[in-house]
Amino acid sequence: MKKLSFISVLAATLLLVGISTAQAAGDAAAGESLYSSMGCMGCHGAAGNSAMPDMFPKLAGLDEAYIDEQLKAYKSGERQNATMQPMASGLSDADIANLAAYLSAQ
Ligand code: HEC
Repeated sequence: MKKLSFISVLAATLLLVGISTAQAAGDAAAGESLYSSMGCMGCHGAAGNSAMPDMFPKLAGLDEAYIDEQLKAYKSGERQNATMQPMASGLSDADIANLAAYLSAQ
């Protein structure tokens, strides 16, 4: 009996973790509209395919978690860049998740 309740608690926990992970994933459609409205496209190119990758990194197809981390690092100042810091400082965590979902899918 004890074993059974442990298993059901474990199953419920796993289910909850699964649900919260799904909610944390960004909304690519919202990311797409932010990407153009915030002017990211001007430097990083249409859909993140930079026309000048030596100056402005190509973002299309980068790992979603990597993009999320980098934008948060610019925002906090942990990653320093005079161009990206002001861009990232106006983004909420949800905006960042949406942009990461959109760009990683390109
Ligand atoms: C004025 C030009 C410009 C604009 C606008 C701009 N970026 Fe950038 N972005 C850069 C430059 C330059 C770098 C490289 C900076 C560095 O060396 O850290 C960069 C780096 C990045 C990186 C890190 C890439 C990597 O490979 O580590 C991400 C992610 C990113 N930008 C996303 C965005 C998003 C999202 C927006 C819109 C909210 C945006 N950028 C707007 C110029 C720009």
